[in-house]
Amino acid sequence: MIGLALNHPIVNEGLKMWQLTKKNKLPLYQQIMEQIIDYIQTGTLLPGDKLPPERKLAELYQINRSTVVHALDELVSLGWVIRRQGSGTLVNEGNWGRSTTPRVDWRRLFTQEAYPTEPYVEEVHRLLKDSVALDLYSGELPLNLIPDFRFPSYTWEDLLLEERKQSPLGYGPLQQVICQRIKMEQKIDVSADQVLITSGAQQAMFLLLQVMLQNGDSVAIEDPSFLYSLPIFASAGVRLYGVEMDQEGMRIDKLEQLILTKKIKMIIVNPTFQNPTGSTMSAKRRQELIILSQKYQLPIIEDEVFSELNFGPIPPSLKEMAPHQVIHLGSLSKIFGSSIKIGWIVADKDLIQRLSEAKQMMDFSISVFPQVIAHTALNDSKFQANQEILVAELKERGAAFTADAQQITEDWSISTIDGGLYVYLTWRHQKLSRKDWSIFLREKLLVAPSFLFSNDTMAMRVNYTRLTKQDRQQFFKRLQVISKQLRRN
Ligand SMILES: Cc1ncc(COP(=O)(O)O)c(C=O)c1O
Repeated sequence: MIGLALNHPIVNEGLKMWQLTKKNKLPLYQQIMEQIIDYIQTGTLLPGDKLPPERKLAELYQINRSTVVHALDELVSLGWVIRRQGSGTLVNEGNWGRSTTPRVDWRRLFTQEAYPTEPYVEEVHRLLKDSVALDLYSGELPLNLIPDFRFPSYTWEDLLLEERKQSPLGYGPLQQVICQRIKMEQKIDVSADQVLITSGAQQAMFLLLQVMLQNGDSVAIEDPSFLYSLPIFASAGVRLYGVEMDQEGMRIDKLEQLILTKKIKMIIVNPTFQNPTGSTMSAKRRQELIILSQKYQLPIIEDEVFSELNFGPIPPSLKEMAPHQVIHLGSLSKIFGSSIKIGWIVADKDLIQRLSEAKQMMDFSISVFPQVIAHTALNDSKFQANQEILVAELKERGAAFTADAQQITEDWSISTIDGGLYVYLTWRHQKLSRKDWSIFLREKLLVAPSFLFSNDTMAMRVNYTRLTKQDRQQFFKRLQVISKQLRRN
């Protein structure tokens, strides 16, 4: 991470520029907005310039402070200015006032203080190099389970020819395969101009935030959710509001309450084998979610990166249920690991076009090489069979985990494993503190505690797919030692 020293000049606090003309009949807050927008457009205020503090502005304008706050709030929501804790109100350095264009606050992204590293995660990363540590923290399949395929033997000339099949939306043949797979699995017809290839689902999410949201906007997500652990939301100035879940998924009554009180602009869900709980939203809840999103005209982003790792039938995707209301994200990283960092967005043509423009502006182009590999992997004649072998192996590991977990059910409740990578274990006794969770680190049992995904501290995400028989025995042995200490605490 780069730590940039930020130095924002405060603009002409004492000058006459902060006065309003008496003849204007607009409400005062609008007059202030107009004036500040005019100053930005004419260059009187430059990107990064700091406005006088609210109190000072109220004094200069000789009006109530709440009117100044109102004007600044509106300017923030329109993207003209930004508020930064400790620094006050600054002229935005992005594309002012154009709500549909991408806007990345890079400095915020690179400012070390803005994203202090979670000490627990730091320690986990250190321990990942320790051969005694059991890694059930990582969110990928173990290497030996990743399906094999024949690597293509391309010359540079071949690659150059493949390069010609690239459009701003991605490598044409890969787009085609993705369209076919969507048709097969979700029974919806999508054409190549509705599919944008990205460098993983996280980049897809980042693009959507930049194009569809403004600094200060609010998004509803599941609670717990892995999205809390991603810095992309904070860097885009987007607020996350978690919605409690029950057995069927995100609670609709709680979501509606949030929509009414927090001006939610978008709903993001991970409905199948959710990260971190491993749970799947029921078909009924999916239907209710769509009805609610239609009522309030809110887009849903459906993050479906685990749906292919299913042990049995799963409910229809939200995209299938409401193709125009839902933006669908997929990725290959949960099958092929992060070395093939390829994901995609499926959405209506116009939005895909806008996202693609944003992608180009940010220079997020993806070289043809990983796309050719991804295409080869998906097109391999053995892919289907290998995928079935993988799912059968996961099912076996899931069942073995559940069977062995019977020995710890006095202390932990265990979620059912129907697919995906995760099982969620919840401590049945007293509230756990960070000090309690540090015992896991001491015993070198690397898991992802729920405080990484929520305000909750009682549960943990375990990637059961990484456990061979031998590791599984180790896991339960270490967990029993830890549970004993937790109970004593
Ligand atoms: C639910 C979910 N969505 C998206 C991602 C990011 O996927 P990618 O590696 O394709 O960026 C992850 C990775 O952990 C995930 O768990």
